[in-house]
This record gives sequence, structure tokens and C-alpha cells, in this order.
Amino acid sequence: MRNLLFTLKSNTYLTKDFLANENLEEGEYLIDRFSDGELFVRIGSDVKEKECYVLGSSAPPDENLTSLLLLAHTLKKEGAKKVTALIPYLGYARQDKNKVGESLGVDWLGKVLKASGVDSVITIDIHSNKGKKLLSIPTTSLSSASIFAPIIRDKGLSTATLVVPDEGAVTNGRNLQKESKISGDVAYYEKHRDDEGISIADLHGTVGENVIIYDDIISTGSTLVACCKKLKNAGVKDITIMVTHGLFVGSKWEELWSLGVSNIYTTNSTPQALEHASEKITILSISTLLDISS
Ligand code: R5P
Repeated sequence: MRNLLFTLKSNTYLTKDFLANENLEEGEYLIDRFSDGELFVRIGSDVKEKECYVLGSSAPPDENLTSLLLLAHTLKKEGAKKVTALIPYLGYARQDKNKVGESLGVDWLGKVLKASGVDSVITIDIHSNKGKKLLSIPTTSLSSASIFAPIIRDKGLSTATLVVPDEGAVTNGRNLQKESKISGDVAYYEKHRDDEGISIADLHGTVGENVIIYDDIISTGSTLVACCKKLKNAGVKDITIMVTHGLFVGSKWEELWSLGVSNIYTTNSTPQALEHASEKITILSISTLLDISS
């Protein structure tokens, strides 16, 4: 019996890749709005006792998350045995700091997913292990290292220094180092964020003339711009950026081109990344990673 894949509007560009998996067939459903704007779902496939995958997004616009929750709830109501949410980029995972008076988005996300019938989550490079624990729902966070490693080999970058923008990203950096057989240890910056914005303190480790920066997210690009300024001052000549989730918000990130960055490699985990594909921004496919073979 094949499992069913239900893809939400936010992620239809990935459907074809996922359906290349012979264990999956496309689930039929309709999602629309009533005249007052409320979302509603109608399932067309027989989902009783079936394992169902919902491919969607928890990132803005909010409709993405509400659609995912309502679809999961409807699948369970109709008798699905198990619902797994496939959320390549897990929005709200950056809200993992329990600050007085502020929302703890990742904890909330886990609770609403669970309450809506989601049994487990599969994502890529979740922002932090702390967030993974707070999500309180069985979550597999796949590493993007195997997507980027071939680029390091093919482009002859294995003598570059691997740098991560903060200490929390060192484990991810080591995964990429292992996978790509890049030499030397992973260097990292100490990153601080306050009301004034992001500040990058001293580098732990040493860098040569060529650097690869590896991070989970490029949003505004402030983190990477701050890092590249430091690296440029340290005499680095060429920087390659490898970043799992490309959000490319605003235009700050474009400063990277004047700071020694020659190329950005990211994945198609977000639709925003696809819009930024260019000669210098390469979009790599996540399909090899999200191979649902059970
Ligand atoms: C933060 O800790 C993340 O790892 C990213 O470095 C950060 O979220 C990127 O955001 P931005 O591009 O706005 O600096």
C-alpha cells in the first residue's frame, strides 16, 4: 500500500520531486475559502488507515500554517493512520528563547501541530537543538551537509576554511566538514543580538585566503554581512556562502557582493530562494534528502 502525499499551495513546486518516490502517490484534496474568507478542506482520496504526508510550510504568510493544520486535522478525522508534516524550512523555530513577556513560537508550533493531528515532523537543519526539544513532537531534522558537500569537491574548495557565524552552528559545520572531507577545524564567531542589532565578536580559529561560510538561514543577511566584514578585515580574499534556507528578505544581503562573496549556494527549501536564482546564486535540490522510503 502506497503512502499519500498532500502538497499545499506553498510547496507545489516540490511535488514532482517527491512523487518520484515509488512509495508515494498524490492524495486528492481541495482547499478553498468560504465567501467569508474561512478556509475549508475536502479530501478526495480514501485515507482510512493510510500513512499521509503533508508537504507544506509554517513560514509566512500565516495562511500556509493554517492550511497545513486544517488539512492535517481533516486527514485524521477521515481516519488517516499517521500524519507526517514535511516542512522543509521550519518557520517559528527561531523563536526558541524563553524571554519574559515574549512568545515562544517553536513551543506553540509543536502544540498546534500536535493538536491538529500531526504525529511527526520532518524538516531540514532545524534552527537549534533547543528548538527541536521545545517542539515536543517527534521531529527528524535532516542535515543539508550532503547537498553542499559535492559542491565543495567539484569546485575545488576543500582547502578553504569552513566558518560558521556562531558557536551553536559548529556541530552543523562539523557535519559538512566530515561529509566534504574539508581540511582543518571549523572556525566560528561569537554572535550577539541586542536591540541595536547583530554584533559579531572575535573569531575562534584561524582563516586562510579562501573561506566557506555555512549557516542555516539567510533572512535579511545581517548576520552574514557582519561576518564577511570581519573576514575581509582579516585579509580573506574569496568567500563562498552555503546556507540551507534562503529567505532573502529586503536588500541588505546584497552588500555581500562587495565584501568578497563570489557565490551563494542555497536550497529549494523555500519558494523565495527560487526567485533569487542567478549566475551567482545557485539553488540546490532537497529532493535527495527527503526520500520517504518507508
Ligand atoms: C541565527 O542564529 C541564524 O542561524 C541565522 O544566522 C539568522 O537567522 C539569519 O538571519 P539574518 O539573515 O536576518 O541575519
